[in-house]
Amino acid sequence: MVHYVSQAPDELSKNMEVISQIEPVVNHAIEHILVDPRECWQPTDFLPDMSSENALEEVAALRKRSEGIPPEIISCLVGNMITEEALPSYQTFFNLLRGINEERDLVSDRAWVRWSRTWTAEENRHGDLLNKYLYLTGKADMREVEITIHNLIANGFDGKTDQDPYQAMIYTSFQERATKISHVNTGKLADGFGDNVLSRICKTIAGDEARHERAYKSFMSRIFEIDPDGAVMAFQKMMQKQITMPALLMDDAKSDNLFVRFSAITQKMGIYTTFDYANIIQHLTELWKVDKLTGLKDYAAKAQDYLCTLADRYRRIAERMKVPETVPCTWIK
Ligand SMILES: [Fe+2]
Ligand SMILES: [Fe+2]
Repeated sequence: MVHYVSQAPDELSKNMEVISQIEPVVNHAIEHILVDPRECWQPTDFLPDMSSENALEEVAALRKRSEGIPPEIISCLVGNMITEEALPSYQTFFNLLRGINEERDLVSDRAWVRWSRTWTAEENRHGDLLNKYLYLTGKADMREVEITIHNLIANGFDGKTDQDPYQAMIYTSFQERATKISHVNTGKLADGFGDNVLSRICKTIAGDEARHERAYKSFMSRIFEIDPDGAVMAFQKMMQKQITMPALLMDDAKSDNLFVRFSAITQKMGIYTTFDYANIIQHLTELWKVDKLTGLKDYAAKAQDYLCTLADRYRRIAERMKVPETVPCTWIK
């Protein structure tokens, strides 16, 4: 039996059809939003030049700069980095979406397949840079970090999108914005503790996430134009299932609630909070003008009502939430 879960087969075929219709928007994004590898930043631009005579001095300067960063922020940085390092799962996820790569050809010239490759190539720099930087600071327990990355990739990734390309575009629009927010906030904190290079690193990565966010939102905007009923339904489905952070499956039997602790610490440090979650919902509902959609079918009009009050409901939850006073740090020696 085909594994479509809650997606009716005719709805899924319609979504696949629409997804292939929006290839021109995807081509446009590849050309105008993604960057040339020779012209964009690369991880070494921010790292000591290990081929230079002064390599060890540069490393010493890096360690000096990062000295004042407290363990809570290192834990958050590690969590951000681990999330980026599970990129193999995200590319697999993307190519398994229905209508994206039906020919199962990773070197295809089709817009969606080219997008998935080029997006992955850009993302690959994020984990690479954060991993090398953290390693050089000497402030994290890198073997434990590596075990977590190992587990996370081995456990896989479930975006709960039912292989539906519409739901996946909602997920990615949301998630790119969420990662942008966490990198920006981590960068601000690093700056406050005296590491201006680390701050620049976080903000540069956030700049990439912002471009990716723009692209995914433009894909979803086009879906809203072509099929507002389907788009609003997908938005509601994803919000009901909730957007979980991609690094959810980082634990193994021996680790002690790593993901729960990582979420708690990002909440406590104000790096990514329930208020941010509410604000992202509000941003997306406004961007896609969900409240202005007219002529919707009954079921879609119900989804519209649900979505229009959702951000406020999350905001009320956020106001009532108690931020834990102490959260044990993870991945610190
Ligand atoms: Fe990233
Ligand atoms: Fe991203």
